[in-house]
Amino acid sequence: MQNDKITLDPHTYAKPGEVVITHSELDIQIDFKKSIISGKVIHTIYNKTGTDKLTLDSKDIIIEKITTGNDEKETTFLLTDPQPFKGSALEIDIKKDTNIVTIYYQTTPQSAALQWLKPVQTAGGKHPFLFTQSEAILARTWVPCQDSPGIRFTYNAKVKVPENLMAVMSASNPTQKTSDGVYSFSMKQPIPSYLLALAVGDLVYHPIGKRTGVYAEPSEIEKAAYEFADMEKMVIAAEELYGAYRWDQFDVIVLPPSFPFGGMENPRITFATPTVLAGDRSLVNLVAHELAHSWSGNLVTNATWNDFWLNEGFTVYFERRIMEKLEGTSYSDMLKVLGYQDMVQTIIQLGKESEDTHLKLNLAKRDPDDGMTLIAYEKGFFLLLLIEKTIGRERWDIFLKEYFSRFAFTSMNTEFFISYIEKELFNNDEELLNKVYMNQWIYGHGLPDNCPMIVSERFQTVEKCLNDWVKGKSAREIITDKWTTHEWLHFLRMLPDRISKERIKELEDTFHFTKSGNAEILCVWFQIAIRNKYNNVLPELESFLMRVGRRKFLVPLYSAIINSEAGIEYAKKIYSKARQNYHFVSTNTLDEKLK
Ligand code: BES
Ligand code: ZN
Repeated sequence: MQNDKITLDPHTYAKPGEVVITHSELDIQIDFKKSIISGKVIHTIYNKTGTDKLTLDSKDIIIEKITTGNDEKETTFLLTDPQPFKGSALEIDIKKDTNIVTIYYQTTPQSAALQWLKPVQTAGGKHPFLFTQSEAILARTWVPCQDSPGIRFTYNAKVKVPENLMAVMSASNPTQKTSDGVYSFSMKQPIPSYLLALAVGDLVYHPIGKRTGVYAEPSEIEKAAYEFADMEKMVIAAEELYGAYRWDQFDVIVLPPSFPFGGMENPRITFATPTVLAGDRSLVNLVAHELAHSWSGNLVTNATWNDFWLNEGFTVYFERRIMEKLEGTSYSDMLKVLGYQDMVQTIIQLGKESEDTHLKLNLAKRDPDDGMTLIAYEKGFFLLLLIEKTIGRERWDIFLKEYFSRFAFTSMNTEFFISYIEKELFNNDEELLNKVYMNQWIYGHGLPDNCPMIVSERFQTVEKCLNDWVKGKSAREIITDKWTTHEWLHFLRMLPDRISKERIKELEDTFHFTKSGNAEILCVWFQIAIRNKYNNVLPELESFLMRVGRRKFLVPLYSAIINSEAGIEYAKKIYSKARQNYHFVSTNTLDEKLK
Protein backbone atom coordinates (compact mmCIF):
# COMPACT_ATOMS: atom_id res chain seq x y z
CA MET A 1 0.00 0.00 0.00
CA GLN A 2 1.24 3.42 -0.90
CA ASN A 3 0.69 6.42 1.29
CA ASP A 4 1.21 9.26 -1.15
CA LYS A 5 -2.20 10.86 -0.85
CA ILE A 6 -2.22 14.51 -0.02
CA THR A 7 -4.60 15.10 2.86
CA LEU A 8 -6.41 18.40 2.95
CA ASP A 9 -5.18 20.36 5.97
CA PRO A 10 -7.70 23.02 7.05
CA HIS A 11 -5.05 24.95 8.98
CA THR A 12 -2.76 25.91 6.14
CA TYR A 13 -2.96 28.15 3.09
CA ALA A 14 -0.24 26.09 1.41
CA LYS A 15 -1.09 24.12 -1.73
CA PRO A 16 1.24 21.14 -1.56
CA GLY A 17 -0.47 19.54 -4.55
CA GLU A 18 1.06 22.34 -6.65
CA VAL A 19 4.36 23.21 -5.06
CA VAL A 20 6.31 22.20 -1.95
CA ILE A 21 9.29 23.52 -0.03
CA THR A 22 11.97 20.82 0.17
CA HIS A 23 14.74 22.70 1.96
CA SER A 24 15.13 25.96 3.90
CA GLU A 25 18.17 28.09 4.81
CA LEU A 26 17.57 30.43 7.71
CA ASP A 27 19.86 33.38 8.33
CA ILE A 28 18.60 35.32 11.34
CA GLN A 29 19.64 37.67 14.14
CA ILE A 30 18.16 37.62 17.61
CA ASP A 31 17.53 41.10 19.00
CA PHE A 32 16.70 40.97 22.72
CA LYS A 33 16.38 44.74 23.00
CA LYS A 34 13.56 44.94 20.48
CA SER A 35 12.29 41.39 21.10
CA ILE A 36 12.39 40.55 17.43
CA ILE A 37 14.04 38.06 15.10
CA SER A 38 15.09 39.49 11.75
CA GLY A 39 16.81 38.16 8.68
CA LYS A 40 15.94 35.97 5.77
CA VAL A 41 14.85 32.49 4.83
CA ILE A 42 15.80 30.92 1.53
CA HIS A 43 13.34 28.23 0.48
CA THR A 44 14.16 25.63 -2.17
CA ILE A 45 10.92 24.67 -3.87
CA TYR A 46 9.70 21.85 -6.07
CA ASN A 47 7.06 23.13 -8.46
CA LYS A 48 4.95 20.11 -9.39
CA THR A 49 2.39 21.71 -11.69
CA GLY A 50 4.20 24.71 -13.10
CA THR A 51 2.13 27.11 -11.00
CA ASP A 52 3.06 30.82 -10.91
CA LYS A 53 2.24 31.25 -7.22
CA LEU A 54 3.87 29.98 -4.07
CA THR A 55 1.44 30.30 -1.15
CA LEU A 56 2.91 30.26 2.37
CA ASP A 57 1.56 30.72 5.88
CA SER A 58 2.46 33.81 7.84
CA LYS A 59 1.13 35.44 10.99
CA ASP A 60 2.29 38.53 12.85
CA ILE A 61 5.49 38.85 10.85
CA ILE A 62 6.60 41.72 8.62
CA ILE A 63 7.64 40.80 5.09
CA GLU A 64 10.22 43.25 3.80
CA LYS A 65 11.24 41.92 0.43
CA ILE A 66 11.05 38.71 -1.59
CA THR A 67 13.38 37.63 -4.36
CA THR A 68 13.62 34.60 -6.63
CA GLY A 69 16.57 32.67 -8.01
CA ASN A 70 20.25 32.75 -7.13
CA ASP A 71 20.49 36.20 -8.69
CA GLU A 72 17.84 37.45 -6.24
CA LYS A 73 15.46 39.17 -8.62
CA GLU A 74 12.87 41.00 -6.58
CA THR A 75 9.36 39.65 -7.01
CA THR A 76 5.87 40.78 -6.06
CA PHE A 77 3.71 39.27 -3.35
CA LEU A 78 0.42 39.71 -1.57
CA LEU A 79 -0.52 39.19 2.08
CA THR A 80 -4.19 38.39 2.57
CA ASP A 81 -6.24 39.74 5.50
CA PRO A 82 -5.16 38.00 8.70
CA GLN A 83 -7.66 35.46 10.02
CA PRO A 84 -7.88 34.44 13.67
CA PHE A 85 -5.18 31.83 14.53
CA LYS A 86 -4.61 30.99 10.84
CA GLY A 87 -2.99 34.30 9.97
CA SER A 88 -2.44 35.39 6.36
CA ALA A 89 -1.72 33.67 3.09
CA LEU A 90 1.55 34.99 1.69
CA GLU A 91 1.10 34.69 -2.08
CA ILE A 92 4.40 35.02 -3.89
CA ASP A 93 4.68 35.43 -7.64
CA ILE A 94 7.09 32.90 -9.09
CA LYS A 95 7.98 31.53 -12.53
CA LYS A 96 7.49 27.95 -13.67
CA ASP A 97 11.21 27.33 -13.35
CA THR A 98 11.81 29.22 -10.09
CA ASN A 99 13.47 26.93 -7.60
CA ILE A 100 14.70 29.39 -4.98
CA VAL A 101 12.69 31.99 -3.09
CA THR A 102 14.31 34.33 -0.56
CA ILE A 103 12.15 36.14 1.97
CA TYR A 104 13.49 39.04 4.03
CA TYR A 105 11.37 39.44 7.14
CA GLN A 106 11.15 40.20 10.81
CA THR A 107 8.98 38.94 13.63
CA THR A 108 6.87 41.25 15.79
CA PRO A 109 6.22 41.32 19.54
CA GLN A 110 2.91 39.56 18.70
CA SER A 111 4.67 36.54 17.17
CA ALA A 112 3.06 33.90 19.32
CA ALA A 113 5.64 31.10 19.07
CA LEU A 114 8.25 33.25 20.75
CA GLN A 115 8.65 33.91 24.42
CA TRP A 116 11.19 36.55 25.33
CA LEU A 117 12.26 36.30 28.95
CA LYS A 118 13.86 39.01 31.01
CA PRO A 119 16.84 37.98 33.14
CA VAL A 120 14.65 37.83 36.28
CA GLN A 121 12.52 35.17 34.61
CA THR A 122 15.50 32.80 34.28
CA ALA A 123 17.26 30.61 36.81
CA GLY A 124 20.49 32.60 36.65
CA GLY A 125 18.82 35.99 36.74
CA LYS A 126 21.57 37.66 34.66
CA HIS A 127 20.83 36.97 31.00
CA PRO A 128 17.71 37.11 28.84
CA PHE A 129 16.28 33.96 27.29
CA LEU A 130 14.27 33.16 24.18
CA PHE A 131 12.49 29.98 23.22
CA THR A 132 10.05 28.99 20.48
CA GLN A 133 7.03 26.68 20.55
CA SER A 134 5.87 25.89 17.01
CA GLU A 135 3.36 23.07 17.50
CA ALA A 136 0.61 23.15 16.40
CA ILE A 137 0.44 26.13 13.99
CA LEU A 138 2.80 28.72 15.43
CA ALA A 139 5.86 28.14 13.21
CA ARG A 140 4.28 30.67 10.82
CA THR A 141 4.69 33.36 13.48
CA TRP A 142 8.48 33.20 13.27
CA VAL A 143 9.26 31.76 9.82
CA PRO A 144 7.11 32.25 6.70
CA CYS A 145 6.64 28.63 5.63
CA GLN A 146 4.24 25.90 4.52
CA ASP A 147 2.99 25.33 8.03
CA SER A 148 1.35 21.93 7.67
CA PRO A 149 2.45 18.65 9.28
CA GLY A 150 2.10 16.81 5.95
CA ILE A 151 4.93 18.79 4.31
CA ARG A 152 8.57 17.98 5.12
CA PHE A 153 11.83 19.79 4.45
CA THR A 154 15.44 19.73 5.55
CA TYR A 155 17.01 22.89 6.92
CA ASN A 156 20.22 24.70 7.73
CA ALA A 157 20.43 27.81 9.85
CA LYS A 158 22.82 30.54 10.79
CA VAL A 159 21.78 32.35 13.96
CA LYS A 160 23.45 35.41 15.46
CA VAL A 161 22.90 35.98 19.18
CA PRO A 162 24.49 38.27 21.81
CA GLU A 163 28.06 37.14 22.43
CA ASN A 164 27.64 35.62 25.90
CA LEU A 165 24.69 33.42 24.92
CA MET A 166 24.29 30.04 23.21
CA ALA A 167 21.71 29.08 20.60
CA VAL A 168 20.31 25.58 20.07
CA MET A 169 17.85 24.34 17.46
CA SER A 170 16.00 21.18 16.42
CA ALA A 171 19.15 20.30 14.46
CA SER A 172 22.86 19.54 15.01
CA ASN A 173 23.84 21.60 18.03
CA PRO A 174 26.90 23.28 19.56
CA THR A 175 28.18 22.05 22.91
CA GLN A 176 30.03 25.25 23.69
CA LYS A 177 29.53 28.96 23.27
CA THR A 178 31.22 30.61 20.31
CA SER A 179 33.22 33.80 20.76
CA ASP A 180 31.23 35.79 18.18
CA GLY A 181 27.70 34.60 19.02
CA VAL A 182 27.23 33.07 15.56
CA TYR A 183 25.93 29.49 15.42
CA SER A 184 25.39 27.15 12.47
CA PHE A 185 22.86 24.35 12.39
CA SER A 186 21.90 21.56 10.08
CA MET A 187 18.88 19.25 10.08
CA LYS A 188 19.51 16.61 7.46
CA GLN A 189 16.36 14.57 8.00
CA PRO A 190 13.21 16.09 6.52
CA ILE A 191 10.86 17.45 9.20
CA PRO A 192 7.46 19.15 9.26
CA SER A 193 7.36 22.85 10.23
CA TYR A 194 5.91 22.29 13.71
CA LEU A 195 9.26 20.77 14.67
CA LEU A 196 11.19 23.95 13.89
CA ALA A 197 12.62 25.12 17.20
CA LEU A 198 15.12 27.56 18.66
CA ALA A 199 16.26 28.42 22.17
CA VAL A 200 18.77 31.10 23.15
CA GLY A 201 20.17 31.71 26.61
CA ASP A 202 23.02 31.29 29.02
CA LEU A 203 23.33 27.56 28.35
CA VAL A 204 25.83 24.85 29.12
CA TYR A 205 25.97 21.25 27.94
CA HIS A 206 26.47 18.09 29.97
CA PRO A 207 26.86 14.83 28.03
CA ILE A 208 25.15 11.75 29.50
CA GLY A 209 25.88 8.93 27.04
CA LYS A 210 27.24 8.42 23.54
CA ARG A 211 24.22 10.05 21.90
CA THR A 212 22.54 11.76 24.83
CA GLY A 213 23.02 14.83 26.98
CA VAL A 214 21.38 17.83 28.62
CA TYR A 215 21.42 21.58 28.13
CA ALA A 216 20.45 23.95 30.92
CA GLU A 217 21.41 27.19 32.54
CA PRO A 218 24.61 26.71 34.58
CA SER A 219 22.80 26.73 37.95
CA GLU A 220 20.44 23.95 36.80
CA ILE A 221 22.79 21.69 34.89
CA GLU A 222 23.83 19.37 37.69
CA LYS A 223 20.28 18.77 38.81
CA ALA A 224 19.28 18.10 35.20
CA ALA A 225 22.18 15.69 34.61
CA TYR A 226 21.22 13.78 37.76
CA GLU A 227 17.55 13.60 36.83
CA PHE A 228 18.17 12.37 33.29
CA ALA A 229 21.04 9.99 34.02
CA ASP A 230 19.11 7.12 32.37
CA MET A 231 18.60 8.79 29.00
CA GLU A 232 20.98 6.55 27.10
CA LYS A 233 19.28 3.48 28.56
CA MET A 234 15.96 4.87 27.38
CA VAL A 235 17.18 5.24 23.81
CA ILE A 236 18.48 1.67 23.87
CA ALA A 237 15.17 0.38 25.27
CA ALA A 238 13.22 2.28 22.63
CA GLU A 239 15.40 0.92 19.82
CA GLU A 240 14.96 -2.62 21.10
CA LEU A 241 11.23 -2.13 20.86
CA TYR A 242 10.65 -0.39 17.55
CA GLY A 243 13.88 -0.05 15.59
CA ALA A 244 16.79 2.30 15.07
CA TYR A 245 16.79 5.85 16.40
CA ARG A 246 16.95 7.87 13.19
CA TRP A 247 17.97 11.31 14.48
CA ASP A 248 21.59 10.62 15.56
CA GLN A 249 21.55 12.63 18.79
CA PHE A 250 18.99 12.83 21.62
CA ASP A 251 19.42 15.74 24.02
CA VAL A 252 17.06 17.50 26.40
CA ILE A 253 17.12 21.22 27.19
CA VAL A 254 15.67 22.31 30.52
CA LEU A 255 13.96 25.63 29.88
CA PRO A 256 12.86 28.34 32.31
CA PRO A 257 9.61 27.58 34.19
CA SER A 258 7.37 29.60 31.87
CA PHE A 259 7.63 26.88 29.19
CA PRO A 260 3.93 26.15 28.55
CA PHE A 261 4.26 22.37 28.14
CA GLY A 262 5.82 19.51 30.01
CA GLY A 263 7.87 18.59 27.00
CA MET A 264 8.08 19.20 23.27
CA GLU A 265 9.60 16.61 20.98
CA ASN A 266 11.79 18.89 18.89
CA PRO A 267 14.04 16.52 16.94
CA ARG A 268 17.52 15.99 18.43
CA ILE A 269 16.64 18.26 21.35
CA THR A 270 13.52 17.82 23.44
CA PHE A 271 12.39 21.03 25.11
CA ALA A 272 11.40 20.41 28.74
CA THR A 273 9.87 22.19 31.70
CA PRO A 274 12.05 22.47 34.81
CA THR A 275 9.07 21.09 36.79
CA VAL A 276 10.20 17.65 35.59
CA LEU A 277 13.22 17.98 37.89
CA ALA A 278 11.64 16.35 40.93
CA GLY A 279 15.04 15.46 42.38
CA ASP A 280 14.26 11.73 42.49
CA ARG A 281 13.90 10.89 38.77
CA SER A 282 10.25 10.08 39.35
CA LEU A 283 8.90 12.12 36.43
CA VAL A 284 11.25 10.92 33.69
CA ASN A 285 8.44 9.20 31.82
CA LEU A 286 8.14 12.65 30.26
CA VAL A 287 11.55 12.13 28.65
CA ALA A 288 10.46 8.65 27.53
CA HIS A 289 7.39 10.29 26.00
CA GLU A 290 9.31 12.89 24.01
CA LEU A 291 11.86 10.26 22.98
CA ALA A 292 9.03 8.01 21.75
CA HIS A 293 7.93 10.85 19.46
CA SER A 294 11.19 10.30 17.58
CA TRP A 295 9.24 7.42 16.02
CA SER A 296 5.56 8.30 16.45
CA GLY A 297 5.21 11.89 15.32
CA ASN A 298 8.64 12.84 14.10
CA LEU A 299 9.18 9.83 11.77
CA VAL A 300 5.55 9.00 11.03
CA THR A 301 3.69 12.25 11.32
CA ASN A 302 0.01 13.06 11.68
CA ALA A 303 -1.10 14.32 8.26
CA THR A 304 -3.29 17.04 9.80
CA TRP A 305 -4.13 18.08 13.35
CA ASN A 306 -7.36 16.11 13.02
CA ASP A 307 -5.14 13.01 13.13
CA PHE A 308 -3.35 14.19 16.29
CA TRP A 309 -4.08 10.87 18.03
CA LEU A 310 -1.69 9.18 15.59
CA ASN A 311 1.05 11.31 17.15
CA GLU A 312 0.05 11.29 20.80
CA GLY A 313 -1.83 8.02 21.31
CA PHE A 314 1.05 6.02 19.81
CA THR A 315 3.55 8.03 21.79
CA VAL A 316 1.82 7.39 25.12
CA TYR A 317 1.67 3.68 24.25
CA PHE A 318 5.39 3.67 23.32
CA GLU A 319 6.30 5.76 26.40
CA ARG A 320 4.67 3.19 28.69
CA ARG A 321 6.43 0.32 26.92
CA ILE A 322 9.77 2.06 27.49
CA MET A 323 8.94 2.62 31.17
CA GLU A 324 7.83 -0.99 31.52
CA LYS A 325 11.20 -2.13 30.16
CA LEU A 326 13.12 0.16 32.52
CA GLU A 327 11.02 -0.03 35.69
CA GLY A 328 8.80 -3.09 35.34
CA THR A 329 5.05 -3.60 34.97
CA SER A 330 4.26 -2.52 38.52
CA TYR A 331 5.50 0.92 37.46
CA SER A 332 3.90 1.15 34.01
CA ASP A 333 0.61 -0.09 35.49
CA MET A 334 0.54 2.97 37.73
CA LEU A 335 1.02 5.23 34.70
CA LYS A 336 -1.83 3.44 32.93
CA VAL A 337 -4.24 3.80 35.83
CA LEU A 338 -3.43 7.50 36.23
CA GLY A 339 -3.96 7.85 32.48
CA TYR A 340 -7.31 6.09 32.73
CA GLN A 341 -8.38 8.51 35.45
CA ASP A 342 -7.29 11.45 33.27
CA MET A 343 -9.30 10.07 30.36
CA VAL A 344 -12.46 9.60 32.42
CA GLN A 345 -12.10 13.13 33.81
CA THR A 346 -11.60 14.58 30.34
CA ILE A 347 -14.68 12.81 29.00
CA ILE A 348 -16.75 14.15 31.90
CA GLN A 349 -15.44 17.66 31.34
CA LEU A 350 -16.08 17.62 27.59
CA GLY A 351 -19.42 15.80 27.95
CA LYS A 352 -19.52 12.20 26.77
CA GLU A 353 -21.44 13.05 23.63
CA SER A 354 -18.97 15.76 22.63
CA GLU A 355 -17.28 15.41 19.25
CA ASP A 356 -14.05 16.35 20.95
CA THR A 357 -14.10 12.88 22.55
CA HIS A 358 -13.61 11.33 19.09
CA LEU A 359 -10.10 10.18 18.27
CA LYS A 360 -10.44 11.56 14.77
CA LEU A 361 -11.00 15.24 15.43
CA ASN A 362 -12.81 17.86 13.44
CA LEU A 363 -10.78 21.02 13.98
CA ALA A 364 -11.62 22.86 10.78
CA LYS A 365 -12.44 26.54 11.42
CA ARG A 366 -11.13 26.22 14.97
CA ASP A 367 -7.85 26.92 16.64
CA PRO A 368 -6.43 23.38 16.69
CA ASP A 369 -5.06 24.03 20.14
CA ASP A 370 -8.62 24.25 21.51
CA GLY A 371 -9.51 20.72 20.46
CA MET A 372 -6.27 18.96 21.35
CA THR A 373 -7.13 17.33 24.66
CA LEU A 374 -6.01 14.29 26.60
CA ILE A 375 -8.46 12.23 24.48
CA ALA A 376 -5.83 11.84 21.74
CA TYR A 377 -3.36 10.69 24.39
CA GLU A 378 -5.36 8.39 26.63
CA LYS A 379 -8.24 7.16 24.51
CA GLY A 380 -5.59 6.66 21.82
CA PHE A 381 -3.45 4.72 24.28
CA PHE A 382 -6.31 2.47 25.39
CA LEU A 383 -7.30 1.66 21.81
CA LEU A 384 -3.73 0.57 21.06
CA LEU A 385 -3.61 -1.43 24.29
CA LEU A 386 -6.85 -3.12 23.27
CA ILE A 387 -5.34 -3.99 19.88
CA GLU A 388 -2.23 -5.34 21.61
CA LYS A 389 -4.37 -7.54 23.85
CA THR A 390 -6.55 -8.73 20.98
CA ILE A 391 -3.72 -9.62 18.60
CA GLY A 392 -1.04 -10.58 21.11
CA ARG A 393 2.00 -8.52 21.95
CA GLU A 394 4.42 -10.42 19.75
CA ARG A 395 2.60 -9.82 16.48
CA TRP A 396 1.63 -6.30 17.46
CA ASP A 397 5.27 -5.39 18.12
CA ILE A 398 6.37 -6.76 14.76
CA PHE A 399 3.61 -4.75 13.09
CA LEU A 400 4.55 -1.52 14.87
CA LYS A 401 8.24 -1.83 14.10
CA GLU A 402 7.42 -2.39 10.45
CA TYR A 403 4.96 0.54 10.50
CA PHE A 404 7.62 2.97 11.70
CA SER A 405 10.20 1.85 9.18
CA ARG A 406 7.81 1.60 6.25
CA PHE A 407 6.32 5.05 6.74
CA ALA A 408 9.44 6.77 8.06
CA PHE A 409 9.63 10.43 7.06
CA THR A 410 6.08 10.48 5.73
CA SER A 411 2.73 11.55 7.08
CA MET A 412 -0.18 9.34 8.03
CA ASN A 413 -3.89 10.00 8.18
CA THR A 414 -6.50 8.12 10.18
CA GLU A 415 -8.38 6.60 7.23
CA PHE A 416 -5.23 5.20 5.66
CA PHE A 417 -4.09 3.87 9.02
CA ILE A 418 -7.36 2.02 9.58
CA SER A 419 -7.30 0.29 6.21
CA TYR A 420 -3.60 -0.50 6.61
CA ILE A 421 -3.93 -2.07 10.06
CA GLU A 422 -7.09 -3.98 9.12
CA LYS A 423 -5.26 -5.56 6.24
CA GLU A 424 -1.70 -5.94 7.54
CA LEU A 425 -2.33 -6.77 11.19
CA PHE A 426 -5.84 -8.21 11.24
CA ASN A 427 -5.66 -9.86 7.79
CA ASN A 428 -9.21 -8.53 7.43
CA ASP A 429 -10.32 -11.21 9.92
CA GLU A 430 -13.90 -10.19 10.74
CA GLU A 431 -14.03 -12.07 13.99
CA LEU A 432 -10.95 -10.34 15.38
CA LEU A 433 -12.04 -6.96 14.05
CA ASN A 434 -15.42 -7.36 15.71
CA LYS A 435 -13.70 -7.69 19.05
CA VAL A 436 -12.14 -4.25 18.71
CA TYR A 437 -14.72 -2.12 16.91
CA MET A 438 -12.08 0.29 15.79
CA ASN A 439 -14.50 2.59 14.01
CA GLN A 440 -16.46 3.22 17.17
CA TRP A 441 -13.25 4.03 19.03
CA ILE A 442 -12.07 6.41 16.35
CA TYR A 443 -15.25 8.05 15.04
CA GLY A 444 -17.52 7.60 18.05
CA HIS A 445 -17.85 9.58 21.26
CA GLY A 446 -17.17 8.60 24.86
CA LEU A 447 -15.49 5.37 25.86
CA PRO A 448 -16.46 2.04 24.22
CA ASP A 449 -17.36 -0.77 26.62
CA ASN A 450 -14.42 -2.97 25.61
CA CYS A 451 -11.80 -0.63 27.06
CA PRO A 452 -9.14 -2.73 28.86
CA MET A 453 -9.22 -2.39 32.64
CA ILE A 454 -5.93 -2.02 34.44
CA VAL A 455 -5.36 -3.06 38.01
CA SER A 456 -2.31 -1.69 39.77
CA GLU A 457 -1.16 -3.66 42.80
CA ARG A 458 0.83 -0.77 44.12
CA PHE A 459 -2.26 1.42 43.94
CA GLN A 460 -4.30 -1.22 45.74
CA THR A 461 -1.88 -0.87 48.65
CA VAL A 462 -2.35 2.89 48.52
CA GLU A 463 -6.13 2.49 48.52
CA LYS A 464 -5.94 0.29 51.58
CA CYS A 465 -3.93 2.91 53.45
CA LEU A 466 -6.34 5.58 52.35
CA ASN A 467 -9.37 3.63 53.57
CA ASP A 468 -7.74 3.13 56.95
CA TRP A 469 -7.06 6.83 57.18
CA VAL A 470 -10.60 7.74 56.17
CA LYS A 471 -11.87 5.40 58.89
CA GLY A 472 -9.85 7.29 61.47
CA LYS A 473 -6.34 5.81 61.56
CA SER A 474 -3.78 8.55 61.99
CA ALA A 475 -1.70 9.66 59.03
CA ARG A 476 1.49 9.06 60.97
CA GLU A 477 0.76 5.34 61.03
CA ILE A 478 0.52 4.97 57.25
CA ILE A 479 3.65 3.35 55.86
CA THR A 480 4.67 5.44 52.88
CA ASP A 481 8.44 5.14 52.77
CA LYS A 482 8.44 3.12 49.51
CA TRP A 483 5.99 5.42 47.74
CA THR A 484 7.05 7.27 44.65
CA THR A 485 5.33 10.29 43.07
CA HIS A 486 2.70 8.12 41.39
CA GLU A 487 1.54 6.53 44.62
CA TRP A 488 1.26 9.97 46.17
CA LEU A 489 -0.72 11.22 43.21
CA HIS A 490 -3.12 8.30 43.50
CA PHE A 491 -3.46 8.85 47.24
CA LEU A 492 -4.28 12.52 46.74
CA ARG A 493 -6.66 11.93 43.83
CA MET A 494 -8.58 9.30 45.81
CA LEU A 495 -9.12 11.46 48.90
CA PRO A 496 -12.76 12.28 49.62
CA ASP A 497 -13.99 15.56 48.16
CA ARG A 498 -14.72 17.06 51.55
CA ILE A 499 -12.19 16.77 54.35
CA SER A 500 -12.39 18.52 57.71
CA LYS A 501 -9.94 21.29 58.54
CA GLU A 502 -8.36 19.18 61.28
CA ARG A 503 -7.75 16.26 58.98
CA ILE A 504 -6.32 18.42 56.17
CA LYS A 505 -3.99 19.90 58.73
CA GLU A 506 -3.08 16.40 59.90
CA LEU A 507 -2.11 15.45 56.32
CA GLU A 508 -0.08 18.61 55.93
CA ASP A 509 1.68 18.23 59.31
CA THR A 510 2.56 14.63 58.52
CA PHE A 511 3.47 14.78 54.84
CA HIS A 512 4.30 18.51 54.28
CA PHE A 513 2.71 18.59 50.81
CA THR A 514 2.79 22.39 50.59
CA LYS A 515 6.57 22.28 50.82
CA SER A 516 6.89 19.50 48.24
CA GLY A 517 9.40 20.23 45.50
CA ASN A 518 7.32 18.10 43.15
CA ALA A 519 5.05 20.20 40.93
CA GLU A 520 2.71 17.28 40.11
CA ILE A 521 2.05 16.66 43.79
CA LEU A 522 1.78 20.38 44.54
CA CYS A 523 -0.77 20.86 41.79
CA VAL A 524 -3.17 18.20 43.15
CA TRP A 525 -2.57 19.21 46.75
CA PHE A 526 -3.34 22.88 46.12
CA GLN A 527 -6.67 21.90 44.56
CA ILE A 528 -7.61 19.73 47.54
CA ALA A 529 -6.54 22.38 50.01
CA ILE A 530 -8.50 25.25 48.54
CA ARG A 531 -11.56 23.13 47.89
CA ASN A 532 -11.56 22.46 51.64
CA LYS A 533 -10.84 26.06 52.62
CA TYR A 534 -7.38 25.25 53.96
CA ASN A 535 -6.15 28.70 53.00
CA ASN A 536 -2.72 28.32 54.57
CA VAL A 537 -1.55 27.14 51.15
CA LEU A 538 -2.40 30.42 49.43
CA PRO A 539 1.04 32.10 49.68
CA GLU A 540 2.74 29.01 48.22
CA LEU A 541 0.05 28.67 45.57
CA GLU A 542 0.50 32.30 44.55
CA SER A 543 4.22 31.92 44.28
CA PHE A 544 3.77 28.74 42.20
CA LEU A 545 1.44 30.57 39.80
CA MET A 546 3.88 33.47 39.53
CA ARG A 547 6.76 31.19 38.65
CA VAL A 548 5.37 28.27 36.64
CA GLY A 549 3.79 28.73 33.20
CA ARG A 550 2.94 25.12 32.37
CA ARG A 551 -0.63 25.15 31.14
CA LYS A 552 -1.46 21.69 32.47
CA PHE A 553 -1.00 23.09 36.00
CA LEU A 554 -2.37 26.59 35.45
CA VAL A 555 -5.77 25.60 34.07
CA PRO A 556 -6.88 23.36 36.97
CA LEU A 557 -5.36 25.65 39.58
CA TYR A 558 -7.05 28.82 38.36
CA SER A 559 -10.33 26.90 37.95
CA ALA A 560 -10.04 25.63 41.51
CA ILE A 561 -9.48 29.16 42.81
CA ILE A 562 -12.46 30.46 40.85
CA ASN A 563 -14.66 27.75 42.40
CA SER A 564 -13.31 28.26 45.90
CA GLU A 565 -14.11 30.62 48.73
CA ALA A 566 -11.37 32.97 47.45
CA GLY A 567 -13.28 33.26 44.16
CA ILE A 568 -12.81 34.78 40.75
CA GLU A 569 -11.66 38.19 41.96
CA TYR A 570 -8.72 36.60 43.75
CA ALA A 571 -7.94 34.48 40.67
CA LYS A 572 -8.00 37.58 38.50
CA LYS A 573 -5.75 39.43 40.89
CA ILE A 574 -3.09 36.72 40.73
CA TYR A 575 -3.49 36.40 36.97
CA SER A 576 -3.03 40.10 36.40
CA LYS A 577 0.40 39.89 38.03
CA ALA A 578 1.44 36.49 36.73
CA ARG A 579 0.24 36.77 33.14
CA GLN A 580 3.42 38.53 31.97
CA ASN A 581 5.34 35.40 32.91
CA TYR A 582 3.30 33.08 30.69
CA HIS A 583 3.77 32.03 27.07
CA PHE A 584 1.03 32.80 24.53
CA VAL A 585 -0.09 29.14 24.55
CA SER A 586 -1.08 29.50 28.19
CA THR A 587 -2.52 33.02 28.08
CA ASN A 588 -4.54 32.10 25.01
CA THR A 589 -6.32 29.45 27.08
CA LEU A 590 -6.56 31.44 30.31
CA ASP A 591 -7.59 34.88 28.99
CA GLU A 592 -11.09 33.63 28.28
CA LYS A 593 -11.61 32.72 31.93
CA LEU A 594 -9.68 35.48 33.62
CA LYS A 595 -9.26 38.66 31.65
N1 BES B 1 3.73 17.36 21.48
C1 BES B 1 3.28 17.49 22.82
C2 BES B 1 3.09 18.92 23.24
C3 BES B 1 2.08 19.68 22.42
C4 BES B 1 0.83 19.17 22.18
C5 BES B 1 2.38 20.92 21.91
C6 BES B 1 -0.10 19.88 21.43
C7 BES B 1 1.46 21.64 21.16
C8 BES B 1 0.22 21.11 20.91
C9 BES B 1 4.23 16.79 23.79
O1 BES B 1 4.81 15.64 23.28
C10 BES B 1 3.44 16.36 24.99
O2 BES B 1 2.53 15.60 24.82
N2 BES B 1 3.79 16.83 26.17
C11 BES B 1 3.16 16.45 27.42
C12 BES B 1 4.05 15.50 28.13
C13 BES B 1 3.49 14.27 28.65
C14 BES B 1 2.34 13.62 28.04
C15 BES B 1 4.48 13.34 29.31
C16 BES B 1 2.98 17.72 28.26
O3 BES B 1 3.49 18.76 27.85
O4 BES B 1 2.36 17.68 29.29
ZN1 ZN C 1 3.39 14.04 23.06
